[in-house]
This record gives sequence, C-alpha cells and structure tokens, in this order.
Amino acid sequence: MGTAKKNIKKQTDEVFLQRLNRHHDELRWLYMELYDNGSMFAELCDNLRQFYLERNQELKDRDLLRETNQEWYRQNDMLGMMFYIDNFAGNMKGVESKLDYIERCNVNYVHLMPFLDTPKGRSDGGYAVSDFRKVQPKLGTMKDLDSLTAACHKKGINVCMDFVMNHTSEDHEWAKKARQGDGEYMSRYFFFDTAEETAMYERTVPQVFPTTAPGNFTWLEDAGKYVMTSFYPYQWDLNYKNPRVFNEMMYNFLYLANRGIDIIRIDAVPYIWKELNTSCRNLKQVHTIVRMMRMIGEIVCPGILLLGEVVMEPEKVTPYFGTVEKPECHMLYNVTTMATTWHTVATRDVRLLKRQLDIVNGLPKDYVFLNYLRCHDDIGWGLDYGTLQKEGFEERSHKQYLNDYFQGYAGGSNSRGELYNADPVTGDARFCGTTASMCGVEKAAGEQDDKAMEQAIRLDLMLHAYMFMQSGIPVLYSGDEIGQLNDYTYKEDPDKVADSRYIHRGAMDWKLAEKIGDAKSVQGKIFQGLERLERIRKTEKVFVTDADAWTIETGDQSVLCIGRYYDGEKIIGVFNFSEFDKSVQIEEQDGRYTELLSGKTMMIDEVMIPAYGFYYFKKS
Ligand code: GLC
Repeated sequence: MGTAKKNIKKQTDEVFLQRLNRHHDELRWLYMELYDNGSMFAELCDNLRQFYLERNQELKDRDLLRETNQEWYRQNDMLGMMFYIDNFAGNMKGVESKLDYIERCNVNYVHLMPFLDTPKGRSDGGYAVSDFRKVQPKLGTMKDLDSLTAACHKKGINVCMDFVMNHTSEDHEWAKKARQGDGEYMSRYFFFDTAEETAMYERTVPQVFPTTAPGNFTWLEDAGKYVMTSFYPYQWDLNYKNPRVFNEMMYNFLYLANRGIDIIRIDAVPYIWKELNTSCRNLKQVHTIVRMMRMIGEIVCPGILLLGEVVMEPEKVTPYFGTVEKPECHMLYNVTTMATTWHTVATRDVRLLKRQLDIVNGLPKDYVFLNYLRCHDDIGWGLDYGTLQKEGFEERSHKQYLNDYFQGYAGGSNSRGELYNADPVTGDARFCGTTASMCGVEKAAGEQDDKAMEQAIRLDLMLHAYMFMQSGIPVLYSGDEIGQLNDYTYKEDPDKVADSRYIHRGAMDWKLAEKIGDAKSVQGKIFQGLERLERIRKTEKVFVTDADAWTIETGDQSVLCIGRYYDGEKIIGVFNFSEFDKSVQIEEQDGRYTELLSGKTMMIDEVMIPAYGFYYFKKS
C-alpha cells in the first residue's frame, strides 16, 4: 500500500474509531445487559468496522456534513411522499425516470414502500421479507437501488425504506431451516409444542389482525409445532432474546443503509420483544434495542435517520424518542393527531383536535413528528375516549358512527371507503380509503355534481393546509396530490381480496396526472392548490420544526385556529371543518395580517371563512 493510501485509510479508520469510542461503553453495557455475551459483542464491533469500510465515499461525505448539521431534517423545506414502487412507476428504473415529477411535487423525501424479496400471495404488501439482501425481481436489483438512491441524492431527495425487523417471511432461509427442525434456527423464532403454552400468551397478548389473521400463533403441520405469528401466519416473529438474531439483523440494517438509504423506518417496532404474561408490546427491552440501533447508526452511518412505526396511544409513542442524553428514534408518526383529524371531519367539532394539538405542541421541540392524512395502512380509531366521554361520546357507538360516516351512511357524509378488520367480538373496525374519496371527490364524480365536487376539493385542500401547519414533516400519500380515488380492482385479485387496505393502494394514474397543468380539472385544482401551500411552507421560516406552535380560540366549534411563531415572524392558520360559511372571532388582536394565498391585508379580529375554507395569515 502506498503511503498516501495508507494515510487515507488511517484517517478514515480514525473517524470510525472516534465514533465507536463515543458510544462503546454504553453500547457494551446495554448489549451485556441483554445478552451477557462478550464474544458476540466483539463480533458486532468487528462488523460495524467492516460496514463502515464498505460504505462509499459519497455516503461518508454526506455523514460528515450531517454530523456537523444535525438540524438538517428539521427545516421547513422537508416534504415527504410515500409510494409502492410498482404502483408508482413499475420498477426502480421507472421511479428513477420519474424523479422530475417528484421534484415538481416539491418532495425531497420519498418513502419506497417494501421492495425486498417476498413470496407472491403471502407478502402482506411486502412486509413479509424472505431475503433482506435481495430486491423483488419484478422491481429490480440491488444495483438498481444503488443507482436510484444516488440519482435521488443528486436531486436533493432523501430515500426512506422499511426495515421489517419484527418478523421474517416463512420463506426466509432461517424459517425454512427452522421448519425442518434445525435447533439453531428454531431458536431464532418462537416455537411451542403444545396449545397450552400458546394459550398462556393469548391470555395477555392482543390481536393485530383479529379478522384477517386471528390469534398470535400458527400450527405447522409438517413440523408438528406452533410458531409465533403476531401478524399474518406467514410472518414469523423473530426472537431477539437470541443475540444471533440481533447481530444478523443489525448487519442487514447496515447493509441496506450502505445502499444509500437516508431514513430507516423501523416497522412494527413496539412488538420486537416478547415476554409471557405481558402484552408483548413496548417492553423495556424494545427501547434497549432501539437505543443500540441508534448508536450503531451513529457509529457507522451517522447521516441516516431512524423513523419508528409506533401506531399506539400518545403515552406509548413519545418514549421512542428516548431522552436528550440517550436518544432512540429521530422521528415518529403523529398517529393520534391523524386519527383525530378524521374524527373532526366526521363530527365538524374541533374540540378534541384542539386538545390533541395542545398536547403535541407542549412536547419538547426536539421531537420530530411525521404528519400525514393517509398512508398505506387503515385508520384505527385510536382517539382520546376519556375526553370524548366527558363531551358525551361513548367509545363503541362513536367508532360505529365514524365507520358509518366514512362509508357514506351517516352524518350527511360524502365519503366513500371500506371497513377493515371488523372484529365480531369487540365490535371494533378500522377504516380504509384515499383522502380524495373520504373527502367526497369519488361521490361527486360519480354523481357528476359540480357543486359537490367543488366542496370536496375544498375539504381536501383545507385538510392538507391544516396538516402543513403542524410542526414536523408533512408526508403525502402518492396519488393524493392528484386526488386519486379508491381502487376497487383489488377485489378481483385473489391475493388481495381479503385485505381491504388495497382499496387505497391503487396504481398511480399517469393519464390523470397529465392534467395537473389544467386548472379546471380536479387533478389540476388539487395539484396546484397543494403547490401553493408547498411553496409557502418552503419560504416561510415559521414552518421549521423548532417554531412555537399553539391553538387559538375562535368561538366556533367547527373552526380550528393554529398560531406559529419563529424568530420574529408569525403565521396564523384558520381552518373551517364544516360545510357552512362561518364568521369567527380570533383572539389575536395585534394589528394587520396578510393572507398569504390571496395577498390581501386585513385585521383578523373578525373573519369570514367559507365552508371548508382556510386562511394562512402572516403578521405584517
Ligand atoms: C406495519 C405496516 C403494515 C404491516 C405490519 C406488519 O404496521 O405498516 O402494513 O401489515 O407492519 O409488518
């Protein structure tokens, strides 16, 4: 090796060693607490170094930049979009050819929905991974992924992917060996001989898919054993009590990070540790593992972010941020706010949403939430029923109302969509549909009712405007930017028919997308309406994550008002959640404001706001 080369190697090694030293003691401590296995820890450290050495120079440079600017993802220019690669553009190369469209949407963060190898018909939308190092052949190859992430980075677009670490597909090589009775591999999952043992767990473990996949265990006829399957029977829960599982899954995580992934979405993270006599959710060892992942990321690839998928009530969500000294996830989904938003649409009553926003606004500013209206999953009605009860809503009948409303049966609703996992025992059901269909675009189009269409589009845009006003990173669900409707063709596909989430997982309609330039078309109205909001969000610094945010009384139960303040600038957003024009009083009488969409300057103590309308007032 020449001296110059040696020096570079020495230098890069030093960067690695510095990072390792910073975290070594805590990482070792946690690892030993969980596994008490020094040689496996040594193996882990050797592999961290190996993954660091294999990381390409562009990514290492990116890491260094982000290490010195840790605020990079907390700015007001962040806008996400999530999509299935095949639905969006056929395959990875197709996505690469559509990056101009993504840029046109002002999106600088794309979440590529699961694309790793998965068995056809037993994939749970790709969340049953059979090989963590192989792309589904129909979508491309690892090389295509490298090329796509590099192309995204050139355009300033960050790439997010799912890391499905709670389970593997039954077709994963570990599962295949385990099924054949190989003890080494059986110990990577949860195997039981008798129904008595599994029944002990069932006493305390709730069900994820009570209708489509009841129970938490699956009987394997050929093996003569039960295996734990919290999700679908073909998704086998991994046993993180086995340090081999932890180490190997960390290597998979780093392998994927080295493909140029910026954001790792830790799928179903609350479920990754199981103990008898518990709910097997959010156990303290889960936090130990996430904390270790955070340190491992900071040692090998500090430019990446961890996004935790914690679809739970708020008290369970925020601990996944960890603490200032011991951070865990960088970002989490604002799931309760999302569900509360749709409750507000159905009730035209903003009280619960206001309260929910007050809670979120009161949290430490370093918490970064992802805000969204819709995603690939159903909407579970996880609302604050304690508070609702005081307002006269009873949980079971209210859930029933919400599901009736969004199916279009109650409350003067124009929504369309379908139930998901209706549980005959608890009477519980969740809901599926696209934003546009839930706002009434589908019904208005079917009835060719122009007035109703105008109202539906107003509601759709108002919801986005309100979502953009929240602190954090807004994420669009692909297709929503052109008002895509529910797709009922999943019913003709035997692999999908049982899972109504496919109703909002339709293919992107590029014919419709061609109309985005036509301001008279539905697509143009929604796309251009969003574009205006996106531009405002990117220009106004009050939209940074660190801004102060608060809610303001309007004296009207259907009108929500949110203030934001940052560095001498202030914006007040007003949002009418009802189909009636309103006149409201805003308790911020401090002079003149300019409405950012119309450019009009006015006092805002008394404001007229049309049905499903909104304003962004900026203090002059
Ligand atoms: C997450 C995904 C969901 C999937 C589940 C199991 O919740 O969002 O789509 O079914 O994990 O992996």
